[in-house]
Amino acid sequence: MLLHIPQVLAAEEVGRIRTALDGAEWTDGRETVGAQGATVKRNLQLAEASPLKAELGQRVLAALERNALYFSAALPLRVLPPRFNRYEGGGHYGFHVDGAVMANGAGKARGHVRSDLSCTLFLCDPDEYDGGELVVSDTYGEHEVKLPAGDMILYPSSSLHRVAPVTRGARLASFFWVQSMVRDEGNRRMLFEMDMAIEALRTGGADSTAVLRLTGIYHNLLRQWAEV
Ligand code: NI
Repeated sequence: MLLHIPQVLAAEEVGRIRTALDGAEWTDGRETVGAQGATVKRNLQLAEASPLKAELGQRVLAALERNALYFSAALPLRVLPPRFNRYEGGGHYGFHVDGAVMANGAGKARGHVRSDLSCTLFLCDPDEYDGGELVVSDTYGEHEVKLPAGDMILYPSSSLHRVAPVTRGARLASFFWVQSMVRDEGNRRMLFEMDMAIEALRTGGADSTAVLRLTGIYHNLLRQWAEV
């Protein structure tokens, strides 16, 4: 499932992040990629050890905490600290699949995140650059994604995907991975659809006892499927 989550960040917050990124030091994006990715990845990123990356990442995570649609769709258990990238002057990232398990933290605090979901949060509006579409290939074909600044796309990490070359301007984005409480994509999707339907019934004034029973079924399915 590809899910467009609008306005994760308000325009003012996007503006503040972009101002901070204007003065940032960028490094070769191949710092954080394996051998397969290194052959196809041509972009810039904030360095892994950059304090600015940590600070801006916290702001993105704080915005996600307030986002009910994201929570319902991702059912997040662990999230890798958000990274920030920049594509310009033909920068691109050819077709690849994201690593399945990613190290998180260092030393004794080192843990791992299984990438169930990939997220890209756009920080530039589509008219600021040419190219730069995120192309996600799944069983239904190829989907091109280019969203307004502040909007986010959530897609399965198991998919092949690429970023088309940026031929004018610059494309700034934040990206990160989520390990979901519900590993199976089909089960996670059913829970999401059910949650959305229950919410529509509730706000539509449906019989409250029936809504309560459906809510119980939602939680009991989540109880069966969640690994926490
Ligand atoms: Ni990727």
